[in-house]
Amino acid sequence: MKMVVAYIRHEAFEPIRSELLELGFPSLSITEVKGSGRQKGITERYRGTDLTHYLRPKLKLECVVADGDVPTVVDAVLRHARTGAVGDGKLFVLPVEQAYRIRTGESGEDTLQAHDATSAALP
Ligand SMILES: Nc1ncnc2c1ncn2[C@@H]1O[C@H](COP(=O)(O)OP(=O)(O)OP(=O)(O)O)[C@@H](O)[C@H]1O
Ligand SMILES: [Mg+2]
Repeated sequence: MKMVVAYIRHEAFEPIRSELLELGFPSLSITEVKGSGRQKGITERYRGTDLTHYLRPKLKLECVVADGDVPTVVDAVLRHARTGAVGDGKLFVLPVEQAYRIRTGESGEDTLQAHDATSAALP
């Protein structure tokens, strides 16, 4: 199992969510974060003073999937998150030791995602 972690623009989330759901990956988490990339800061002039913002708002997407599903999920995120401009974000793939569905006590890859489009559509 792997966790795909991506720092993306807010606008990229909806198309990513929609495609992942269609592909059978309905389960994910989003956190609003602030971060800095290699440009470090953006300077703007406000009432005659130069102000530098060191942190930019981003969304952090977390999606745990089976090893074999990593290329599919990574491809979907990259395709929708890329505009070609600086600040498009970063994506990391992390190892995951174990997963449990708390309600049932099930563990392992079976707990992760619905690959069947019908079960993905259920509440
Ligand atoms: N190495 C990193 N570790 C943790 N978070 C990161 C890392 N690099 C980028 N981020 C997160 O991703 C966001 C977007 O980064 P950004 O796209 O600016 O990366 P970059 O390396 O500067 O690439 P670019 O030149 O395309 O802007 C950052 O604001 C931060 O939240
Ligand atoms: Mg940057």
